[in-house]
Amino acid sequence: MSLPLIFLCCFATSFFGPPNGSEAGGVDSVVSEIQGLREELAFHDYLYFQQNKPRISDAAYDRLRQKLEQLESRFPELAAGTVAGSPPIGDDRTPGSLDGPHIVPMLSLRKGYSLADLLEFNDSLAEELGESLLDCWVEPKVDGMAVSMVYENGCLKRILSRGDGATGQDLTDQLAGLPELPLFLGPDLDPGESSVNGAVIEIRGELYVTWEAFEQVNGEQTRKGEDVYATPRSMAVGLARGGSLAPDREIPLRWVAFGWGAWEGPGPIPVDYSAFRDWCRERGLPVLPQGRMIKGMEELNEEVRVQEHAAIDWPFAADGLVIKINRTRDRILLGSTSSAPRWAIAYKFAPPEEITRLEGVEWQVGGTGRITPVALLEPVQIDGRTISRANLHNAGCIRDSGYRIGDLVRVQLAGQVIPQLAGPIEQEGRDELEPVPVPESCPACSGALLSGPDGRMLSCPKEACPGRID
Ligand code: IVH
Repeated sequence: MSLPLIFLCCFATSFFGPPNGSEAGGVDSVVSEIQGLREELAFHDYLYFQQNKPRISDAAYDRLRQKLEQLESRFPELAAGTVAGSPPIGDDRTPGSLDGPHIVPMLSLRKGYSLADLLEFNDSLAEELGESLLDCWVEPKVDGMAVSMVYENGCLKRILSRGDGATGQDLTDQLAGLPELPLFLGPDLDPGESSVNGAVIEIRGELYVTWEAFEQVNGEQTRKGEDVYATPRSMAVGLARGGSLAPDREIPLRWVAFGWGAWEGPGPIPVDYSAFRDWCRERGLPVLPQGRMIKGMEELNEEVRVQEHAAIDWPFAADGLVIKINRTRDRILLGSTSSAPRWAIAYKFAPPEEITRLEGVEWQVGGTGRITPVALLEPVQIDGRTISRANLHNAGCIRDSGYRIGDLVRVQLAGQVIPQLAGPIEQEGRDELEPVPVPESCPACSGALLSGPDGRMLSCPKEACPGRID
């Protein structure tokens, strides 16, 4: 969805009321909360997938989505009456670009944030499969961009982004020359005359940049006077979409294979993930050397602890671990939901965090008129960086967390790089502090503000507002 359209939905509902407006205030407020959350998620999908500039952490995004899903399942009849603003998974395609279908959809991963979540994952699968000690792989969850390398009769034919899961953006021209990407996997994958459609194998993986390349490319961007990339993930996406580099510079994109989609080959489908990784290595497809196979919950606990500890030394950004069942037969038995396979889970790392004082809040007007609060902090060191400003997202987040000027607050580096507030610390005397004031007029032009259905997002509608000029 385009940004103007998101705002149009937002303001249309705030002016004309919810579609099934009812006299009962409770119903109205649920409808407006569902609508507000959908619009907020659509806005963050737009920032993440289209603009490649996320403003909230994955965990904050997941919390919003969970809140929406809970409301939708408690009040299905009310949810049905609202304008659907957010697809189940976002779309990373650039509008107007060449695209292509995935034979097997590219799904997302279900997420866990604690060992208790992993225990529940392990126990439910063990029960379903009737086995108590399951073989699982534990691998870094590389923070980059998901891709599908499509091989026909052993030859690389297309490179697709995930897109909306069913159709991806065609990135073949930009990426076919990557050094770690073999153009041919071997003559045994060509079924010859015997096959009408040929053999198609979709190798799924992640494009990424190393921390070293992240620093280098951002250094080059600064020297050219251009914007730096906020995170390694946004750099990987930017470069994959043809982002500008010096013409003679090799694109510093790497990738790893972590699975497959369609496997319509003359050869048999791999019996398990271990066999898949061996097959990849034999044919020159890179796999994650940090991956380990474990058996049962005890070993899983230990391996998660070891890898979480080791992650600081990995040469790329990782936002967690992926735990996946080894045996292909079990994966087929377990199947998928509409958005994620049931045989895998992403365990997300807690971002690095410190505590400091909230000294004030600055309200900025963006290029589209959206008003965003930025926390002004007593400077604090996190991961060797001095942080004095942090994202506060929108007026809704300030209200939800009840921030007060002078509060002690938790500051995190989302995606290991973007500073954001994670909530105030409860302490004596807080009630006497002044709640963060929310502006009633535009901080740049003093004009009237528009607000979304439940007042979470504020915006200045004036095209000529001086604050819009970034
Ligand atoms: S396995 C979804 N393994 O995480 C199908 N995914 O948030 C199974 N990712 O879409 C994926 N590292 O792009 C798998 N070692 C890894 C991964 C990995 C990064 C990404 C992948 C996926 C996303 C889910």
